[in-house]
Amino acid sequence: MESGMADVALRGINKSFGATRVLNGVDLNVAAGEFVVFVGPSGCGKSTLLRVIAGLEEPDAGEVAIAGRTVNALSPSDRGIAMVFQSYALYPHMTVRQNMAFGLTLAKTDKAEIERRVSAAADILNIADYLDRKPKALSGGQRQRVAIGRAIVREPQVFLFDEPLSNLDAALRVRMRYEFAALHQRLKTTMIYVTHDQVEAMTLADRIVVLNGGIVEQVGAPLELYDHPRTRFVAEFIGSPKMNLISAEIIEATATVATVRVADGAIVRVGVNAAATTPGQKVQLGVRPEHLTLDGPGEALTATATFVESLGVATYAYAALPGSGETLTVQLPGDVRVCSGQTLSLRVPPNRAHLFDANGAALRRLV
Ligand SMILES: Nc1ncnc2c1ncn2[C@@H]1O[C@H](COP(=O)(O)OP(=O)(O)OP(=O)(O)O)[C@@H](O)[C@H]1O
Ligand SMILES: [Mg+2]
Repeated sequence: MESGMADVALRGINKSFGATRVLNGVDLNVAAGEFVVFVGPSGCGKSTLLRVIAGLEEPDAGEVAIAGRTVNALSPSDRGIAMVFQSYALYPHMTVRQNMAFGLTLAKTDKAEIERRVSAAADILNIADYLDRKPKALSGGQRQRVAIGRAIVREPQVFLFDEPLSNLDAALRVRMRYEFAALHQRLKTTMIYVTHDQVEAMTLADRIVVLNGGIVEQVGAPLELYDHPRTRFVAEFIGSPKMNLISAEIIEATATVATVRVADGAIVRVGVNAAATTPGQKVQLGVRPEHLTLDGPGEALTATATFVESLGVATYAYAALPGSGETLTVQLPGDVRVCSGQTLSLRVPPNRAHLFDANGAALRRLV
């Protein structure tokens, strides 16, 4: 199969292990050259979906197409993909060069061609100086780069990465994250990347796919998911610390604004299309910690600070709402001093707050 870029199309993918349905009607189009990141809680089916694309798992139903061609019947090695796993599993008795060349050697690729590809990949990944070392003489980050190099030399149309950085320490992850972004810019190959790490997803992805229990909850650009989550699940999953959710009741509803009352009687206005709701309806008011302010626009919630963390870059206050006892996380600028026990008047900006109905569906935000 030619190297270069290829689109990936998934249609109606179902997969069960025994009685457990792990993927449930997954439809997804990944454009040629796109960097798509799968996120979701542990066990939601991210690795299984990646393995279905790779051909390491056979779906019970549905179609996998790469570059416009149905590949369901093709073995992994014939799909034009290369996969990098979390456990990079290098052969300990082989040098870096032999590890990287291994797949090509098996495929009886011409020796000069192998040499060309290995040295090109080594240059891209900055491991040219280590080609004659054995894996045990490398750091974790260097080993991970060899594993990526082993994928690059295959010149795939699509790279599949399953949590490739999760074995690395925090500082190295940050550096490797940058290197992944650079690698994608340079190769422009289609990449599908699974991670638990919010920041990796937000920074690397052209689009993020949020999976929940084998279902695609939402697909969108990182800031689209952050600003316009379509469900409470996505709202809580994207963003750190998590979005606050406060029980509330609709007082008045129009196509441009919802007026809600929270437990202690405070009234808050939210810029959403609430035309389909009715007064008295139970909803949840969602507001991100970083959008609550002590002096910005919007109505105020009164809450008592119960615990304060000063991190320098930001101050986190945890505050209890009277009436319901619900706790809010509030992210304030690092130079703001708040004490535990202090009463806070927290403003909810109407154009940044969210409302969710009893099923967890978001009312459409207007800005
Ligand atoms: N070979 C298998 N046999 C039986 N069950 C499996 C198999 N592989 C995965 N599962 C189950 O399928 C579900 C989805 O697994 P999967 O590995 O895709 O999750 P994941 O989203 O990658 O999770 P994590 O974030 O923990 O890696 C889990 O409940 C898992 O236990
Ligand atoms: Mg997994």
